[in-house]
Amino acid sequence: MEHTKWYRDKVFYQIWPRSFRDGNGDGIGDLWGVYEKLDYLQQLGVDGVWFSPLYPSPGVDCGYDISDYMDIAPEYGGMEAFRAVLDGLHQRGMKLIMDLVVNHTSDEHEWFQKSRRRIEPYTDYYIWRPAGPGGKLPNNWDSHFEGKAWQWDALRQEYYLHLFAVRQPDLNMDNPLVREAVKKILKFWLDLGVDGFREDVVTFLSKKEGLPDDRLYPVFKGIRFYNHGPHIHEYLQEFRRDVLDGYDCVTIAEAPMVTPRQALDYIADPGSREIDMMIQFQCMCADCFFSDYMPRKFSLRRLRRAFSTWQRKLEGRGWNMLYLENHDHPRVISRYGSERYRVESGKMLAVSYLFLKGTPFIYQGQEIGMTNWYPEKTAMYEDVQTRNQKPDWPEEKRLKLYHRASRDSARTPMQWTAGKNAGFTTGTPWFYVNDNYREVNVETELADPDSLLNFYKKAIALRKRLPVVRDGSYHDHCFGSGKLYVYTRETQRQKLLVICSFTDKPVRFRPPRGCDLNRMQLLLTNYDGSLEGSGFVTRPYETRVYLHET
Ligand code: GLC
Ligand code: CA
Repeated sequence: MEHTKWYRDKVFYQIWPRSFRDGNGDGIGDLWGVYEKLDYLQQLGVDGVWFSPLYPSPGVDCGYDISDYMDIAPEYGGMEAFRAVLDGLHQRGMKLIMDLVVNHTSDEHEWFQKSRRRIEPYTDYYIWRPAGPGGKLPNNWDSHFEGKAWQWDALRQEYYLHLFAVRQPDLNMDNPLVREAVKKILKFWLDLGVDGFREDVVTFLSKKEGLPDDRLYPVFKGIRFYNHGPHIHEYLQEFRRDVLDGYDCVTIAEAPMVTPRQALDYIADPGSREIDMMIQFQCMCADCFFSDYMPRKFSLRRLRRAFSTWQRKLEGRGWNMLYLENHDHPRVISRYGSERYRVESGKMLAVSYLFLKGTPFIYQGQEIGMTNWYPEKTAMYEDVQTRNQKPDWPEEKRLKLYHRASRDSARTPMQWTAGKNAGFTTGTPWFYVNDNYREVNVETELADPDSLLNFYKKAIALRKRLPVVRDGSYHDHCFGSGKLYVYTRETQRQKLLVICSFTDKPVRFRPPRGCDLNRMQLLLTNYDGSLEGSGFVTRPYETRVYLHET
């Protein structure tokens, strides 16, 4: 089937279903709730939705531990509600993409339950190893969530590998039967009408033969033996050839620590086109090392380098996936912007990435400027990754780290109204609502023409109206480098100038060569009244988008 690359014209919205909208009053977000909000999404201007996992799951990792890949969890409304949402999206001309999580399953998955009992053909579905002398672990790899990467199974009397939580055993992708099972899952959902997949930690699927000890890395031990492992390209090409090529669908791969050069091995076009877009993490590391829970001071230079490197290296060779938030990171205003200048910095951050080349994703609540959550006790955190961070630190120090770094900040219920439970549920919400919901909510922001939400609508509409955003070349300009991010996008006929101040301090902005502000049209800004001239002094977190047409 022809691959039309329709995704290049879309703006996606990510729904983390548990916290989006509860339709039946049991306190848990669900697809009935999503169905109610389809018009909201359409009016925002997005035209595709990526759903974090909707499958049955014991919920050890909030749905990323799947116990049945071919069903929808009953608490989310089951298949019936799913079909209604799928049809509702398609009727509105919108796309739906599923999360595909096949690096690991839940330990409650039937495959694992049979594998630990050595019931064929499941015996080798997972990565089992006997204990070494004295019960020694098979190797020294770390898991990302809970201690070492091996767990003893009393029934099978062997260790199994888990790169994430203990209850997320890794599948053995070297087993052809497992790959057949993955293809069945892909086919099942594509035949039902879904438009593609976001593939969870897919670069981890192939582990190096012999699972050697890692004697090099001090942290994330083992990752160099399974990130972009020996057979990864083979396996992805197999999925492509045997299933994906039969559909005009999109694939987006989550790829921790990936460099542009490595990404091109998966996405280069023309090329084997294993994957259409990659979720890189460089843009998430401007205020941390590797991961949010290793914080450092925010640096605009690092953020600009992340944006610019990916824009340049993929130019003409691959397509970027653009984002500033998802369910795995704290809220971006609290990280790269300013809670004090919440609306101003929220608008500036929107502009900073929505006019880059690629397909943007907006995470639920980002469009209304939700900020981090600051509970009084670490015990209030829910996330398995957070709870295992620095368990030996004193409470106060841990709390400070979690406030800054926890994924739970992105997982509090979506704030719809200033009313009870922020309009998320009529029942008791499964998780805490952020205290700021009286001010920060959809209803209030819809009514305010200057709100962040209405700004997102304008920015999305503008992006779609201007061919230069889709096609133009990219150049960054290093003014006041630690404070301003300035870039231009250019085609023969249009030139777009984007200015973003990442500070509340005044900075003198001088237009780059070839940009005369007096001859350009100001299309979008977060302040009233323009101070023209050859340049201007920025106000806190000021942003402007100018256009020149010939
Ligand atoms: C991905 C998901 C994350 C999950 C992990 C394990 O990083 O985005 O939420 O915890 O994989 O599945
Ligand atoms: Ca519900």
